[in-house]
Amino acid sequence: MRDEIKEILITEEEIQRKIVEIGKGLTEEYKGRFPLVVGVLKGSLPFMGDLIQRIDTHIELDVMDVSSYGNETVSSGEVKIVKDLNTSVEGRDVLIVEDIIDSGLTLSYLVKLFHYRKAKSVKLVTLLDKPEGRKVELVPDIVGFTVPDEFVVGYGLDYAERYRNLPYIGILKPEVYNG
Ligand code: XMP
Ligand code: MG
Repeated sequence: MRDEIKEILITEEEIQRKIVEIGKGLTEEYKGRFPLVVGVLKGSLPFMGDLIQRIDTHIELDVMDVSSYGNETVSSGEVKIVKDLNTSVEGRDVLIVEDIIDSGLTLSYLVKLFHYRKAKSVKLVTLLDKPEGRKVELVPDIVGFTVPDEFVVGYGLDYAERYRNLPYIGILKPEVYNG
């Protein structure tokens, strides 16, 4: 698997160092507030798993699975809820954890949804941000790394469901796409 990676963009050590730093900030921010941490399946799983261990205050965990509705050129930002939360967000401080923000459509939908459901606050932490891909205005509260407008895999991010289990973020060799 690892020989299919052309270039490592962000190393395992860089990711883990960043997570410690983000965790410290979140610990300060959420001390005494019992936030609901919401991971967006499946890409955020490795990031969420490592990040929550660096938040040194009580949290509650939940996950949500969403998928974009049909054709990507539709900029309505409508997404289909494949698996909803088990927890009510009403009155809660919600922290959404995402792997990457590209167009911003998925996340702007989720942020609006949680406000509509009367969350007390909604914050967004993403490991990666691809600002060149934006179709809607969305500024995440916390960004691990800004990446160029290239397709990246690893640490939760997939190509055809593969590579999520790499410990780093990389770019695939072109021949992988061509079969
Ligand atoms: P938005 O709505 O911001 O959604 O476009 C972001 C989702 O798009 C996927 N995505 C990627 N997945 N490598 C991936 O493996 C990438 O470079 C990439 N860019 C976007 C991803 O599922 C993310 O949650
Ligand atoms: Mg995703």
